[in-house]
Amino acid sequence: MYFRDIIKNRILITGANGKLGQRTVSFYKNFKNFELLTISIEDEPVIDGVDYLQCDITDREKVKKVVFDYCPDFIINTAAYTNVDKSETDREAAWKVNVKAVEYLSESARVIDAHIIHISSDYLFDGKSGPYSENAVPNPLGYYGRTKLASENALRLSGCYYTILRTNVLYGNAADSSPDFVKWVINSLKNGEKIKIVTDQINNPTFVDDLVQGINKIIEFGKTGVYNIGGREFISRYDFTMLIADYFHLSKSLVGKIITEQLKQPARRPLKSGLITLKAETELGYHPHTILEALAEMREGLAL
Ligand SMILES: NC(=O)c1ccc[n+]([C@@H]2O[C@H](COP(=O)([O-])OP(=O)(O)OC[C@H]3O[C@@H](n4cnc5c(N)ncnc54)[C@H](OP(=O)(O)O)[C@@H]3O)[C@@H](O)[C@H]2O)c1
Repeated sequence: MYFRDIIKNRILITGANGKLGQRTVSFYKNFKNFELLTISIEDEPVIDGVDYLQCDITDREKVKKVVFDYCPDFIINTAAYTNVDKSETDREAAWKVNVKAVEYLSESARVIDAHIIHISSDYLFDGKSGPYSENAVPNPLGYYGRTKLASENALRLSGCYYTILRTNVLYGNAADSSPDFVKWVINSLKNGEKIKIVTDQINNPTFVDDLVQGINKIIEFGKTGVYNIGGREFISRYDFTMLIADYFHLSKSLVGKIITEQLKQPARRPLKSGLITLKAETELGYHPHTILEALAEMREGLAL
């Protein structure tokens, strides 16, 4: 099933037009060892030159058809309902994409022995005592976190081969998707807008290409279970912003400080969070970029 015993693995990538989806498709696109089928909810793919199908993964019958017709060895599920604040009120939609669709993918995967690689989040945790290891006890603060925890539990109950990769604060270049934090900071400061950034949320922001590296290591080593995939530095969102401003020579005087409570967001955020990546480093040889290395790679795609 893995690298060692099959010449060509088939990979099905869901959410192909999202931030992680696009980078994952671009990574596997030119790999000779893999055949790819990419799906997402839109009619057209963002990344050209790969097989693409429109598929709403909350439609159980469509999921079954795609999985049984294509018969993938791996299903990389990057699709998700990712709007944390909207998840508080749009609960049914968030649950359908983040939980029910995972059930549908896993029930089909089980029949054909496909291995699901699913992406989860540090929002499983309450942020009282991060950074968190894979064994930490979840206690989500908001509905989005509850859906991600339920998605993990759906996989645990499914009887299929699965790997859960937990990540946090994804950043990196992707076209046609909502801007990531780095791009939002750059655009705001370039336009001379003042921004207020929280000083009390700590994570290890994850360069999206490092998460793709983590996914590929899972396929390479055929690992199942839970792995944290995060960045090298644990840093407040404010300090992350200052690094970005510094690196791109943008005005730091436009960046003000605020604390999370003052933002009055619908969903509560874990504050002292982040994910310890020791397991991925030792078992997979995972080696993330530093933030400065990642920004240097991003610069090339940003055309600044
Ligand atoms: N971004 C972060 O900071 C972060 C942090 C921790 C964990 N994660 C997790 O990482 C994974 C990837 O996140 P991302 O940032 O790449 O998200 P993203 O950019 O929002 O991409 C998710 C993709 O899934 C698609 N999708 C939504 N509903 C669908 C449906 N019913 N059927 C098929 N496709 C559907 C979305 O399409 P539309 O855009 O048209 O809805 C979007 O293209 C997710 O599991 C997310 O929970 C992300």
